[in-house]
Amino acid sequence: MARSFARRLDGLPAPATIEMARRARALRAEGKPVISLALGEPDSPTPPAVVEAAHAAALAGQTKYPPVDGTPALKAAIARKFTRENGLDYAPDEIMASNGGKQVIFNAFMATLNPGDEVVVPAPYWVSYPLIARMFGGVPVVVPCREEEGFKLDPAALAAALTPKSRWLVLNFPNNPTGAVMTAQELEPIAEIVRRYPDLWVLSDEIYEHLVFDGVRSASLAAVAPDLKDRIITLNGVSKAYAMTGWRVGFAGGPKDLIAAMRGVQGNATSGICTIAQAAAAAALDGPADLVQEMAATYGRRRQMVVDALRRIPGLTCAMPEGAFYAYPGVAGCLGRTTAGGTRLETDHDFALAFLDEGYVATVPGSAFGQSPYLRLSCATGDADLMEACARLERFVSTLR
Ligand SMILES: Cc1ncc(COP(=O)(O)O)c(C=O)c1O
Repeated sequence: MARSFARRLDGLPAPATIEMARRARALRAEGKPVISLALGEPDSPTPPAVVEAAHAAALAGQTKYPPVDGTPALKAAIARKFTRENGLDYAPDEIMASNGGKQVIFNAFMATLNPGDEVVVPAPYWVSYPLIARMFGGVPVVVPCREEEGFKLDPAALAAALTPKSRWLVLNFPNNPTGAVMTAQELEPIAEIVRRYPDLWVLSDEIYEHLVFDGVRSASLAAVAPDLKDRIITLNGVSKAYAMTGWRVGFAGGPKDLIAAMRGVQGNATSGICTIAQAAAAAALDGPADLVQEMAATYGRRRQMVVDALRRIPGLTCAMPEGAFYAYPGVAGCLGRTTAGGTRLETDHDFALAFLDEGYVATVPGSAFGQSPYLRLSCATGDADLMEACARLERFVSTLR
């Protein structure tokens, strides 16, 4: 007999990114030469100086329960980071550290959403925003961003989606999965629309801010519109910029009352985050900027290489990402056709599964990000694997009937 679980989990799928990675692991265990471009994770190691800071903290006895919202040392490093890099001044009680950027979102939504509240999410979106919103009774409202517009958020489309029931607007630039960036100038009209809805919170997820290319600059909404700062959660973390996905440190700057409510949530869930990881994160934030710049240059070069290769494949389209480390090619030209292995491709999900089963490359279908038919390829992988994956994609597409 099937057992029942809480209704808040009804219809909650496992994120497709994790699903694809699991299937790829299973094929690899069978000895297949799988290349995984499914996970959003830097391929470089955490900088040694950061690891050393963690080691020193552990040896120095920083191993006791920390304050729920972060150690004073980490909060001070976060405050310096916001001032230096974003032009944003946050007091210690306007900052908190969590187990990854993901827990910031969880805290914020749990602290504010009531059943039926709308959470406006531009698509393509990172899979977790609508899933976490739904866990707390939120109703995701999707605003499509168009490939022809470089997947930037169109102010008119946003204005059409907002209603008095809108409780949150989620902004994520540089964007996962498209790499779209919104400059300060492009955020101005967005801020203007937000001003019309005084009960609207904004989550500005800036976790990819340093990974931008071609001199493009990503802007913080709270700096562009200081009058809205007391309604904005500025989310960031060390996972992507410092290759620290496993350390689980994310953080937020925001208004004191909302931060206090989020602290209340976290205090009853995980308490403060690992003290040793906090010492490492502080060292990363205070460390030299050149490591991050080197990483961004590598991702920028790989992105160019991958997009050039994708654009040569008949049937695919691909916008040029301005940031993050993904390519998001469109596969509309391949649907309705049949693979060499006999699978008819009706959707991008069919495409991603068949390409994994027959070409041994794991990607994530656009359906997971709320916009089809596309595939997300992570470029945070070595050059040789990326080129081999593109070659396999070309072969896979050329054998479609
Ligand atoms: C857009 C975006 N925001 C936030 C996160 C959360 O990262 P973490 O929980 O590792 O800090 C991710 C991770 O994939 C992401 O892509």
